[in-house]
Amino acid sequence: MTFSLERLHESHDVRTFTCGERSGAIEIDRYLHEFAIVEQAAGLASVWLALDKTSTLAPCIVGYFALSPTSVRLSPALQDLLPLRVSYAQVGGYLLGRLGVSVRYQGSDWGSTLVAAAIAKANQLREGGGGAFLAVDPKNDRLAHWYDELQFGFLALDPTGKSRRRVLKLG
Ligand SMILES: CC(C)(COP(=O)(O)OP(=O)(O)OC[C@H]1O[C@@H](n2cnc3c(N)ncnc32)[C@H](O)[C@@H]1OP(=O)(O)O)[C@@H](O)C(=O)NCCC(=O)NCCS
Repeated sequence: MTFSLERLHESHDVRTFTCGERSGAIEIDRYLHEFAIVEQAAGLASVWLALDKTSTLAPCIVGYFALSPTSVRLSPALQDLLPLRVSYAQVGGYLLGRLGVSVRYQGSDWGSTLVAAAIAKANQLREGGGGAFLAVDPKNDRLAHWYDELQFGFLALDPTGKSRRRVLKLG
């Protein structure tokens, strides 16, 4: 199945989208239903929908992700990923703040496809406005492990596991 990636727009019908009832999923639904369009208009995030154009009904939402500008603390491990030494405590990047796959499409690696699309989008944004890293804050240990299994190169920053933040170098 092919999909198209579209920036969230008033014309998209997001009301019936649901990514289920696992821990935190209701918040992912709620963000899309209630906050995404206004936060995007306010410049807080850029929200992208993957649409199944082969759906016999109206284009169906496979999933979505939201990217926001952020700053990332430059730990020694992250400094080592940069091609030069910098003296900044923080550097610019993007936060993959929300990610959800519709229950209708879960279990077929659509999550991985959307993370790949988010990385590509962050790299495009980097071309226009800079940004060295893409960060994600998985909400539980299972999801943190899920990101590690994707093998995009997300680095777990805290060896104690207290912080679940993962960071990927862009470019
Ligand atoms: C995470 C997600 C995008 C992955 O989509 P996918 O590629 O279709 O993969 P699956 O739905 O099969 O999930 C992959 C694994 O993650 C687990 N998982 C998914 N969401 C989870 C959650 N919120 N909490 C804990 N585990 C979760 C699944 O149980 C599955 O584990 P298993 O292989 O041991 O059964 C999708 O499951 C989803 O939308 N989850 C709800 C929203 C969510 O938690 N988003 C936050 C992502 S940081």
